Amino acid sequence: MYLSHDEEAIYRGDQGETLRRMMEILVALGDIYGAERLVPVRSVQIAGVSYKNIGDAGLEWISDLEGQVVVPSILNPAGMDLFRYKEMGISEEFASKQQETIEAYRRLGVIIDCTCTPYQIYDSLAEGGDHLAWSESSAVCYANSVIGARTNREGGPSALAAALIGKTALYGYHMDHNRQPSHVIEAKAELEGSDYGALGFLVGKEVGDGVPLFRLRSSPTKDELKALGAAMAASGSVALYYVDGVTPEPPDPAANYDGCEKISIEKEEIEAVYREHSGSDADIVALGCPHCSAEELERIADLLAGQKVKKEMWVCTARKIKDACPDLVARIESSGARVFCDTCMVVSPATEGFEKMMVNSGKALVYLPGLGGVDAAFGSLEECIDVALGRKRS
Ligand code: F3S
Repeated sequence: MYLSHDEEAIYRGDQGETLRRMMEILVALGDIYGAERLVPVRSVQIAGVSYKNIGDAGLEWISDLEGQVVVPSILNPAGMDLFRYKEMGISEEFASKQQETIEAYRRLGVIIDCTCTPYQIYDSLAEGGDHLAWSESSAVCYANSVIGARTNREGGPSALAAALIGKTALYGYHMDHNRQPSHVIEAKAELEGSDYGALGFLVGKEVGDGVPLFRLRSSPTKDELKALGAAMAASGSVALYYVDGVTPEPPDPAANYDGCEKISIEKEEIEAVYREHSGSDADIVALGCPHCSAEELERIADLLAGQKVKKEMWVCTARKIKDACPDLVARIESSGARVFCDTCMVVSPATEGFEKMMVNSGKALVYLPGLGGVDAAFGSLEECIDVALGRKRS
């Protein structure tokens, strides 16, 4: 891979051991994937934050690094709400290791917002055409597809390397030729809300790491696109998709994509996702995968209005969204539900204390049994809230 004079100096160690190690990571990846050179990135989103996932080895690795990030860099969810962890049932031992991890990132100049939806809180992190180095799979999918930026799905170390160097290796989804549709998906149903999570759950399994182009009968909102991409990134490893007439960078409207595999999704298949994962026996309801937007908090507050939950209910969001919506948070919490920040139901060890978690997220449905150690059920937002309220649906 070609390195400029300055990049070569960093590679040799002229700017210290940390930057030498970081450049070594970027060059190793570039060599493996055939990158011609490095490219500057506008922002970085770093996975490897939950102490549950990184353990002592990861904490030690981060703590050993020196210097400061050179582009805006933000964190993925941690293993707990950084302030209300006791309410989540998190032990003091875990909390102290988690705080140590956060402090190690803070020392490097990373912005301490722990969220998988950085695009909901900072407009300045990404615009169409920008090169990024983001980690979390749903954020990557949103950045590539909805924002029209360019990022691979970085691991924790390669994202941190990009943050400290300000560059990433130019390969994968940074390149035009890897951004062409591989599948055309026709959804033969009007969809809304969690239906997009169900659609993504089905399509991800079919297309794997392909680039699906959707032809839909309905026009999804940004939150629905967020749910669609998150589910496909989990049930498959989709990092980029298009929705005809909705997402940017539209592929050639005149093209018929003859070379693409065609897949039809019928209404019955979407309904089967709900039926096969029903959850009235869940002992907890968790919403906010990916982290809730202000609009989603409002919808939850409206559905809970004046009622008390009979089961544990968590709503996960970014701290900045929570801080910006105190009235909505108060309305939700007056029901007995809790709005947690900095964390989520999949990366927190608190989830392991439950038997069955009901979610409205196709991504959480995929990950909870393996990563959360809990059975998962899937329903619409309304169904989830009915279960939390102990209300039977007719
Ligand atoms: Fe975000 Fe956690 Fe879901 S990181 S996308 S809320 S699994």
